[in-house]
Amino acid sequence: MLKRLKNKDLLGLSDITKEEIRLILDHAKTMKQIIKSGVKKTADLQGKSVITLFYENSTRTRLSFELASKYMGAAAANISASTSSVSKGETLVDTGRTIAATSTDVIIIRHPMSGAPHLMAKNVAASVINAGDGMNEHPTQALLDMYTIEDKKGKLDGVEVAITGDALHSRVARSNIWGLSKMGANIRIFAPSTLLPKEIEKMGVKVCKTLSEAVEGADAVMGLRLQLERQKRALFPTEREYSKYFCIDEKIFSLAKKDALLMHPGPVNRGLELSSALIDCPSSFIDEQVTNGVAVRMALLDLLCNSKKFAY
Ligand code: CP
Repeated sequence: MLKRLKNKDLLGLSDITKEEIRLILDHAKTMKQIIKSGVKKTADLQGKSVITLFYENSTRTRLSFELASKYMGAAAANISASTSSVSKGETLVDTGRTIAATSTDVIIIRHPMSGAPHLMAKNVAASVINAGDGMNEHPTQALLDMYTIEDKKGKLDGVEVAITGDALHSRVARSNIWGLSKMGANIRIFAPSTLLPKEIEKMGVKVCKTLSEAVEGADAVMGLRLQLERQKRALFPTEREYSKYFCIDEKIFSLAKKDALLMHPGPVNRGLELSSALIDCPSSFIDEQVTNGVAVRMALLDLLCNSKKFAY
């Protein structure tokens, strides 16, 4: 059985194995117990330092990485690109080298350019974690999504997952497709034709013609945020029309299995992707996704920082 991750970095789920995903998800179960115990404290990262470097806004990812680091005893600090020397023209690689020169063990980076974390990882000895790069991947979000599904359904293999909404701009969708497919889940996708990535079928997903077709019989229904900030031109007529044709409401969600999970990576545009009533209903696991995000990120930091502890 695999006991540690193969690389120093986590850049995406396209380039890690099923066994590595299993290792992170299993280790996250231990971390969730620590969180639930009420005494959120371990010494696993004592003597380590973790820096979050965010070139884009974030609430969940940045906070959960910071809490995960602190719960485990690491020194943790945040750098926002807008208030750092990036605004004076410092390059990505020079910024990475500067952070690494402070003997940082882990750099967690979010960047609007796909591939930015990969470039940084090549230029620093520290572990680099991709916290979302452009329209490419958001691996820790997909890991926490997989954790949530497995926690509630008892398995990932054979689970039917519907992903709906702005798939074109969604790094969450891409990471989930890579990760869930590796773990044996079946994925259906539905998006407006202008927000559906070309050749997405080649990733092994079923493209549905209607929202009802995608949701019917699903074990988990994952809405995606409409990423207006990444749209260079209008890709749908109006938000009112988007809501009318693509919003999941209680009627549509009732087509899923009786015990289906409603999920969303957040932040949600209420009434656009999901109806407000549905977000607040008992089938909604959106808050639990956030809780699980801390556990998954604790597990990942432990595995990357303490690879000797997890020797084969
Ligand atoms: N899901 C997610 O990445 O949320 P934030 O942008 O708030 O980090």
